[in-house]
Amino acid sequence: MYKEPEILVGLDLGTSKIAVIVAERDSRFQEAQIIGIGFAPSQGIRKGLIINLEQAVRSVRQAVKDAQNMVGFEIAEATVSFSGLDVTSVTSKGMVSLGRTPRQVSIADVERVIEAAQSELSIPTNRLTLHTIPVKYSIDGNSGIDDPLGMTGIRLEMELQSVIVPTTVVQNIINCVESAGVEVNGLVIKSLASALGALTDEETRAGVISLCIGGGTTGLALYTDGRPVKLSVIPIGGDHITNDLAYIMKIPISKAEEIKKMVSLSDEENEEQELDVDVRGRTKTFNIREASEVVTCRLEELFTEYVSHQIAEYSLHMFPAGIVLSGGVAKTPGIESYSSEILNLPVRVAEPLDMYQMPPGRNDCEYTTAAGIIRYMTSKERNPYRFIETPVSHLRSGSALLSQQHGAKNERKSAARGQGMGFRGVIEYLKKSLKELF
Ligand SMILES: Nc1ncnc2c1ncn2[C@@H]1O[C@H](COP(=O)(O)OP(=O)(O)OP(=O)(O)O)[C@@H](O)[C@H]1O
Ligand SMILES: [Mg+2]
Repeated sequence: MYKEPEILVGLDLGTSKIAVIVAERDSRFQEAQIIGIGFAPSQGIRKGLIINLEQAVRSVRQAVKDAQNMVGFEIAEATVSFSGLDVTSVTSKGMVSLGRTPRQVSIADVERVIEAAQSELSIPTNRLTLHTIPVKYSIDGNSGIDDPLGMTGIRLEMELQSVIVPTTVVQNIINCVESAGVEVNGLVIKSLASALGALTDEETRAGVISLCIGGGTTGLALYTDGRPVKLSVIPIGGDHITNDLAYIMKIPISKAEEIKKMVSLSDEENEEQELDVDVRGRTKTFNIREASEVVTCRLEELFTEYVSHQIAEYSLHMFPAGIVLSGGVAKTPGIESYSSEILNLPVRVAEPLDMYQMPPGRNDCEYTTAAGIIRYMTSKERNPYRFIETPVSHLRSGSALLSQQHGAKNERKSAARGQGMGFRGVIEYLKKSLKELF
């Protein structure tokens, strides 16, 4: 019997642009096929945060309309990626006994061990867990187990990665997208979506760092053994470079943006090149080499202060696949060798893994996050253990989870209870997914 193809929609709420990606999945084939990408410049969003709701809603509407025109049908719901500040990922460990005599691990055991690892966390009242990502399972001390279900032992242990975000950031994002007429059916942090859109399986298995340098933020994801071991958002992006140029050269932002895109990070290419720019009706001459110094200054800050700091607790040997750059700033000529020298790792600039399915002009490194949302959606469905997401119904303003978190007096207690309640929702989701799977 013919079944209508399933439609998957991802909405990347960026500081510079909003991208709406639409994919179609035929029930006979598990892979999704991208059929359109809508685009609109972002307004009312700074450093990934909504600062003017009305403008942001208008931008979302515009991007959705653009996508609708491309695919020829209405978009009702989407999974949204966002960056925001103050995003952290925390590792916790859990252990459960399977009994005195060895037996097979059941779904209930996996739930118990996830819950045990979750209970180790203390979440402040104004934050919530967005993603719960099992990183490592071990049975009777044998680590590196990909899927523990059905395996035999007496002790199940796990390491969990939890992505913690400020509650109001998430609420404002849901509110913004839903005010634009699109229901939010899932949320994914930009760092994870970009990594999924850019990294090959070989790279994640070997160990790799994904850096998505966007307009207002840089998403960082560290992978070892195929799993993300750290996800965070750094508050620096291309807009900072533009602002620096505008300030130092005393030119309008729009001109600074133009000049920035002409700068190369390899010295030979900027060789005494001069540029005449019309500034408020007068021609001003700029030296591209000077502009490139401003650009490198900010990028140096990003790589040496922020990125190096975030990876300091790991040995560089853990990332033999090096660094994979994406986001608009990765288009800067010469950024590969420049960053490779600073960070002492091999660097490549990513195109989205699915670029051949994407329309020309909307398939470069600026669109890896958007493409990654679709991969996130399919991967979450295929393997419910990989990414457990707190259901959106628990995140909307006024949900039981949030009121419990906000109402509690004792921070630690409230965190445990609120978390427990949110986690029950997560467990329900996990159970449902597992039922569908088997
Ligand atoms: N050719 C280029 N050279 C240098 N920078 C560029 C180039 N093209 C785009 N950019 C910069 O990339 C940034 C936009 O990147 P991107 O579209 O990935 O950001 P975003 O997803 O909207 O923002 P964020 O992810 O930070 O919220 C802008 O600062 C833009 O100036
Ligand atoms: Mg982005």
